[in-house]
Amino acid sequence: MAAITLKDIVKEYGDGYLAVKGVSLDIADGEFVILVGPSGCGKSTLLRMIVGLEDITAGDLSIGGDRVNDKAPRDRHLAMVFQNYALYPHLTVFENIAFPLRLQKGTFTEEQIREKVEFAAKTLELQDHLQRKPANLSGGQRQRVAMGRAIVREAQAFLFDEPLSNLDAKLRGQMRTEIARMQRRLGTTTVYVTHDQTEAMTLGDRVAVLRKGELQQVASPRGLYEHPVNLFVAGFIGSPPMNFLPGEVVDDVLRLPMVDVPLTDDLKSRLGDRKLVIVGLRPEHFEDASLTDDRRSADGVTFEATVDVTEWLGSDLYAYVPFDTNPEVAGKLEELDRDLDGEGMRTQLVVALDSESRVRDGDDAELWVNPAKMMVFDPESGENLTYDADAVKEIDQQNEADRKASLERAQAREKAKAS
Ligand SMILES: Nc1ncnc2c1ncn2[C@@H]1O[C@H](COP(=O)(O)OP(=O)(O)OP(=O)(O)O)[C@@H](O)[C@H]1O
Ligand SMILES: [Mg+2]
Repeated sequence: MAAITLKDIVKEYGDGYLAVKGVSLDIADGEFVILVGPSGCGKSTLLRMIVGLEDITAGDLSIGGDRVNDKAPRDRHLAMVFQNYALYPHLTVFENIAFPLRLQKGTFTEEQIREKVEFAAKTLELQDHLQRKPANLSGGQRQRVAMGRAIVREAQAFLFDEPLSNLDAKLRGQMRTEIARMQRRLGTTTVYVTHDQTEAMTLGDRVAVLRKGELQQVASPRGLYEHPVNLFVAGFIGSPPMNFLPGEVVDDVLRLPMVDVPLTDDLKSRLGDRKLVIVGLRPEHFEDASLTDDRRSADGVTFEATVDVTEWLGSDLYAYVPFDTNPEVAGKLEELDRDLDGEGMRTQLVVALDSESRVRDGDDAELWVNPAKMMVFDPESGENLTYDADAVKEIDQQNEADRKASLERAQAREKAKAS
């Protein structure tokens, strides 16, 4: 097990395409780091450079303190699990898992191979399937065989490139928790590429967000969600995505399409002399005004909104409220949408109301919003003007402490089971 350090890593492909533009990232020993970003942003390229399948154009890559830029993949002692599991159809599950060990001819005795395969099979609950062939397994079982192969190698780190993208939604959920459990149990450094929101938020100790070959922000999932550095990260993290509204500064208020929000002194100083900004509000920061209790409503502002469509989902009620956008920010939001591979930067607000809300299609509803939750972005640079670096640091430290505690618990449980 080892730490992985990337310093100013650059990748220029043979045809001159600059896919990775100087990425620096410290991955601690035992840490689970997620790389996310839209298609083509350089995630796979970065992973392939770490594992050694792709040359590094410039920068330094260290594993466990050693610079490995010029080392062959097999000398880096990493294990990679791909999207298509690359299992051998004619071999049994046992032999598929044993394969990397047999490749190192003469290194392991038959007895050692059996022990290692059985350990991996136990970790992944594959004991009952060792004599079966991959074709007869479910997608999730095949996925586990591929992971078993990574485990027997006792690699310094696991690298995953969208390992679950071929599975259906239910299995993806199961495998996600399985990977998390396995990583905690083994405590192996893991780098995991995905463009799935849920995987990014649930699996990672930290999440690194990439855009066009450049790192935007690295933080704990909660750090990213609550304190994105810019419009790109804010729009990428969260589902349904954050609402972006034009905000005009008019005297002491910020005028949004549907409501005026009073400006605090802090916000005023952050805005400087900007007259037009982009305001970000997450769907859950709204509520049906008739359902807010007195304490909550005291912190917020209420407004009337004409609801177009509603979707009742059991846990929430989503309501869509169309609004007129400002032509000056519309261009910026369209550009953002292209960057995000987005769903069309809606000129409608999505609000997530309590599922008990009686708001329905076509209603003129009284809605409530908490302006303290509002994020404000510069319309030119996209920078989050309400970013709070200290708050992120505190969240990340808490997250780190929680991670250590859960690693210790997992390992103590293993020990207790073994004795
Ligand atoms: N062999 C290559 N030669 C030239 N350009 C390449 C090569 N491989 C990838 N690229 C380019 O590098 C960029 C990053 O590709 P990469 O595969 O790393 O993206 P990704 O983030 O993994 O995307 P996806 O989510 O679609 O898998 C893309 O624009 C791609 O076109
Ligand atoms: Mg990829």
